Amino acid sequence: MKNSEKQSQTNTAQPKAVKTNAKINIVEPAADAATELRELFIDSLKDIYWAENALVGALPKMAANASSAGLSSTILEHHAVTQLQVARLEQVFDLLGEKAEGKKCEAMAGLLKEGDSILQETVPGAVRDAGIIAASQKIEHYEIATYGTLVAFAKTLGENDAAKLLTQTLAEEKEADCLLNDIALNTVNVVAAE
Ligand SMILES: [Fe+2]
Ligand SMILES: [Fe+2]
Repeated sequence: MKNSEKQSQTNTAQPKAVKTNAKINIVEPAADAATELRELFIDSLKDIYWAENALVGALPKMAANASSAGLSSTILEHHAVTQLQVARLEQVFDLLGEKAEGKKCEAMAGLLKEGDSILQETVPGAVRDAGIIAASQKIEHYEIATYGTLVAFAKTLGENDAAKLLTQTLAEEKEADCLLNDIALNTVNVVAAE
């Protein structure tokens, strides 16, 4: 390749300059918008409470669609753990003197919808299993990010008992992610690639 060609290829990869006159809208807060970290913390707990309950409903379908016995049992075990996590969140609400209630988590609703699409887009067997693991790991990563934030909020607010409970759940989500990773790398992906 000539130097001039190299130069032109490099140039095409340059990002376009950001327009400095772009109109940026500052979002008006809703009437019930949080004004303090504690309110944001409680709103976020309601969000994950809805998400965990949605998972309790959705995980059996994921397990039933898995062909690998190891994957199916891992998902079912995490289903049992998820029910404990719902109860743990109720304990957290209790510690904070708040009523345990859910608020629709659009992110989890979207992740579960994507999980359903993956089932439709794959034939049963190792390829569908690889899809189920992909969808499940996106869910676990969302939960890891959420509980990481919740632990930090709880600690900042001096809610140490709540922080301990949320840390336990965070560890369970990380463990589920690791187990799914192992199944993918050691069996499912290998078979799916054959
Ligand atoms: Fe969970
Ligand atoms: Fe989870």
